[in-house]
Amino acid sequence: MNREKVLKKLQQLREEGHLNVPRDELIKTEEQIQGIRESAKINTAVLDYVAERIKEGITTEQINNWVKEYTESQGAICAPYKYGGFPKHVCVSIDDVVCHGIPNKNTVLKEGMIVNVDVSTIYNGYYSDASRMFIIGQTTPEKERLVRVCKECLEIGLEQVKPYGYLGDIGYYIERHALKNGYKVVRDFGGHGIGLEFHEEPFVFHYGKKNSGMILAPGMIFTIEPMLNMKKSAIRISTIDGWTAYTKDKRPSAQWEHMVLVTEDGYEILSY
Ligand code: MF3
Ligand code: CO
Repeated sequence: MNREKVLKKLQQLREEGHLNVPRDELIKTEEQIQGIRESAKINTAVLDYVAERIKEGITTEQINNWVKEYTESQGAICAPYKYGGFPKHVCVSIDDVVCHGIPNKNTVLKEGMIVNVDVSTIYNGYYSDASRMFIIGQTTPEKERLVRVCKECLEIGLEQVKPYGYLGDIGYYIERHALKNGYKVVRDFGGHGIGLEFHEEPFVFHYGKKNSGMILAPGMIFTIEPMLNMKKSAIRISTIDGWTAYTKDKRPSAQWEHMVLVTEDGYEILSY
């Protein structure tokens, strides 16, 4: 990628009157991209490590310990720990927990649960982030379908990532697929720029209008992480811990997250 060429093109777009052109700082340098790629590789390996071990009968605390130990064995740090006061090293969100579930010794994984494990890593100062759903044993066809359609939403969103495309197209096609399947997209959380910080510009909506929002350019890095609810998009945050987000209607919720780089001809998935 020729960063100078990209910056020139962005300047041209600003001069033509485009309002939502990314700031130059959002276009990562080759050196930054390499550093972020290495962080992302560890982040994916942490999720693989969890995937090999997660099963009925373990506690969410155990998942936290795996994530902490494996991450640190790679010379990296868990980004969630103490981020805005978050007390643990990973988010584990079960059934009606939409996101930001806090691991603990009392929550035991049981057959039929759908579990999101959201892992975020800092390596040499570079940030990465991804999450996956895990189904414990056999679940109901309803929950299985929710998990599958949510993954499809992420994949459909990814297809919209291309240089000089619009960020709004990602959300538009994600929401369209969710609605087509009778589901609702959670509106209170979104994806985000990432790399030099945990959460950077832009905010990535999982709903929206075509041809709207920030223009995408090679060298931008962000997450796409749709959360799907079965019937109503409303959530509530626990007043006890200030973090755990539940569906208001207590129905299950699913989420998948990838971290992507915009390239000269599309995108590269950095962590999954
Ligand atoms: N991993 C979450 C995200 O995708 C961030 C969680 S913030 C934390 O944005 F503090 F809970 F870790
Ligand atoms: Co994220």
